[in-house]
Amino acid sequence: MASGREELLEALNEALGAEYGTLWLLPQHMAQVKDEELKRQLKLIAEVELEHAEQSAEMIYQLGGKPSADLPNLRPRSGVREILEAHLEGEREAVELYGRAIRAAEDPEVRKKLERMRREEEGHRRLLERALGRL
Ligand SMILES: [Fe+2]
Ligand SMILES: [Fe+2]
Repeated sequence: MASGREELLEALNEALGAEYGTLWLLPQHMAQVKDEELKRQLKLIAEVELEHAEQSAEMIYQLGGKPSADLPNLRPRSGVREILEAHLEGEREAVELYGRAIRAAEDPEVRKKLERMRREEEGHRRLLERALGRL
């Protein structure tokens, strides 16, 4: 069985890839969105995901690992509903991934950081659910 450290590194690398994937898609998607408020909210999400990418990479280095993230599915979507649904799915995955990382983390400080990141992903999930509900 993989040690906590290995499992944490694996989850963090997957999370890093997921953050990059979102960051790759969001600007293309924001360019399609006409609603200014929704555009602003997507931009706020992008800013947080950039922080998450940095924090994940930082934790990987602190564990003595090296970022080895792979990029996930980068197919751009078209149409607001499809865009929001794709990002909602991404946020659900992010909640899962940080949950996996939390379970593998032994250091309470690291766990605290990861719990904050998961809360932020839950916030994004709710924001996207509300935006979809308004369509
Ligand atoms: Fe994130
Ligand atoms: Fe997010």
